[in-house]
Amino acid sequence: MEIAKTIKKAADLIKTARRRNKIIGFVPTMGALHKGHCSLMETSVKKCGCTVVSIFVNPTQFGPREDFKNYPRTLSKDLEICEDKGVDLVFVPTVKQMYHGKNLTWVKVEKLTLPLCGRFRPGHFDGVTTICAKLFNIVNPDFAFFGQKDAQQAIVLKTMVDDLNFPLKIITCPTIREKDGLAVSSRNKYLTPEQRKQAPVIYKALCNARNLIQSGTKNTERIKTEIKNTIEKAASAEIQYIDILDAGSLEELENIKGKTLIAVAVLFGPARLIDNILIDTKS
Ligand code: PAF
Repeated sequence: MEIAKTIKKAADLIKTARRRNKIIGFVPTMGALHKGHCSLMETSVKKCGCTVVSIFVNPTQFGPREDFKNYPRTLSKDLEICEDKGVDLVFVPTVKQMYHGKNLTWVKVEKLTLPLCGRFRPGHFDGVTTICAKLFNIVNPDFAFFGQKDAQQAIVLKTMVDDLNFPLKIITCPTIREKDGLAVSSRNKYLTPEQRKQAPVIYKALCNARNLIQSGTKNTERIKTEIKNTIEKAASAEIQYIDILDAGSLEELENIKGKTLIAVAVLFGPARLIDNILIDTKS
């Protein structure tokens, strides 16, 4: 496994892989690698002859009062995981490498970045799309792999790739969960043991919503109330949003129809946890 700290070294190694006719798979990460990232790497390794992982805690996607400084950084363990998963190249740039110039250019996806997390994290998605555009230009992958847990991120990036003609395909992989249903996330590290015990309530509430829909309920206010009542049973939970939207346009729905995204953000102390389920009612 190669490790590149500079853009030039990464680009040179990838060019060599391309010359050898390798399909390039790319897993962009902010490190603190967990089972979710592992499943993205495994999918890439199976599908592509060369898998590139980037590890970069991107400052431009954090708000001024967010956790950029405290975000877990576990590089040596991350590199061991990448090696173990059969990754070919890990790109670990510094902030100076990635934001070396005047940084006056931003990639902004409109409309889809306004609801859900966009309402509570202004500028977040501009940071994500800008860094991913830069990384895509450096790595030039055939496929890039993202998790369904960050559903809005995946939809926004698919739109960016489509609108700006990036020659790659985004693959969204299923959310990986702990045994009790909690979606795996780097931010789970912030939970106290008591909050960790309570946090599976999020997925439980989403599963209850799915059951309600399967038994015929269509009214989204009714479903949101059910989700809220379930989550509020956890004493430490503070709901940020519960939204039910069309899974393509991210427009709010009054009644469940077609491909629907049910997404929530819940604060447990300093941990902001997001999760979602996709429902397809085919009507
Ligand atoms: O999902 C993440 O870890 C980040 O948002 C990403 C895609 C690596 C961009 O910094």
